[in-house]
Amino acid sequence: MSYYRVFAVKPMRLLLIVNAVVFMIWIFILFTNFNNSEDKTSHIEEYEQKTLALAQSERRIIKLKQSLKNRYPNAIDYIDAHVKRDLPTIYAITPTYARWTQKADLTRLAQTLLHVPNFRWIVVEDSDTKTPLVTRFLKFSGLQYTHLNAKTDINFKLKSTDPNWLLPRGVSQRNEGLRWIRENLPANTDGVLYFLDDDNTYTLQIFEEMRTTEVASAWPVGLSGALKFEGPGKCENGKVLEWYTAWKPERPFPIDMAGFAVHIKLLFQHPKAQYSNSVPRGYLESDFLTGLKLQRQDMEAKANECSEVLVWHTRTEKPKMKHEEALIKQGKSSNSKMEV
Ligand code: UGA
Ligand code: MN
Repeated sequence: MSYYRVFAVKPMRLLLIVNAVVFMIWIFILFTNFNNSEDKTSHIEEYEQKTLALAQSERRIIKLKQSLKNRYPNAIDYIDAHVKRDLPTIYAITPTYARWTQKADLTRLAQTLLHVPNFRWIVVEDSDTKTPLVTRFLKFSGLQYTHLNAKTDINFKLKSTDPNWLLPRGVSQRNEGLRWIRENLPANTDGVLYFLDDDNTYTLQIFEEMRTTEVASAWPVGLSGALKFEGPGKCENGKVLEWYTAWKPERPFPIDMAGFAVHIKLLFQHPKAQYSNSVPRGYLESDFLTGLKLQRQDMEAKANECSEVLVWHTRTEKPKMKHEEALIKQGKSSNSKMEV
């Protein structure tokens, strides 16, 4: 075989092979382009469907707004003023129990809460059933609320003659509120949890302070711990440097229930964390916060670097009712139909 022949045949084969490779690449490109365009079309179709669905929802909202406006002329203004779509919602759990001053305390609190946008009030009655008084009260409160009940176990219930520090209060009710949140809110809810007792005094500023809580936050509480204030005492750059307390300073968190808030996501990260009836006196708050795996240094300092008191641990005086009680005993209350 001469060199020439070999050379003459080989380039032909080479050409064939090159041609075959080019053809395969071309087929490949054609195929992937076809796939891409199929992909593009399906994306466009999906986009068009979603746009249509959105337009339908918008039309439904307009119709709902119109019918709402026909029935309650001021409702839309109220909703627009109170629901701001880009603000995290505050979920506040309030334990409450029947007593002479209950309606007065709830009224004072509700009228503060009416000024707080993006707010849901979770009211949990310490009773076997939802009472007519609280049911009616909430219905006419004008607030966005959830009404629950959970009776305190008889073994943990204070008697009217007991000193109030003997047993922790509001435990079963706060736990019922936590259960509701975990069962009814999506785990990715951008919201803040606060425990709002029914007899304290709250400024509107404190709600705006807690609203920006990323993980957990704390601030001083006035008239707490037998001091002018208790809780974070010295703060810098959003961190708590010193805690101010006189009683049991070794507590993981020397703080009142009204002095902290946590982001809702923590409840889902620690699904078992809740309040306990069997903690030493003063450890209710610390026990809950450590259950969320929080430490003192995790707390974001609020209330202007913890330099202001924006909430007070006030208590309502028990009214003297000896004449009323005597009348009730005789079966002739002042006016049994009057709700007080
Ligand atoms: C302090 C704290 O501020 C409370 O948050 C904490 O629960 C309480 O101590 C405690 O150590 O247990 P204090 O003013 O002594 O608060 O307690 P209350 O205001 O009498 O009760 C706290 C909440 O529980 C209130 O919202 C109250 O309505 C509710 N509560 C009280 C019940 O639901 N059932 C009761 O039998 C008593
Ligand atoms: Mn109280």
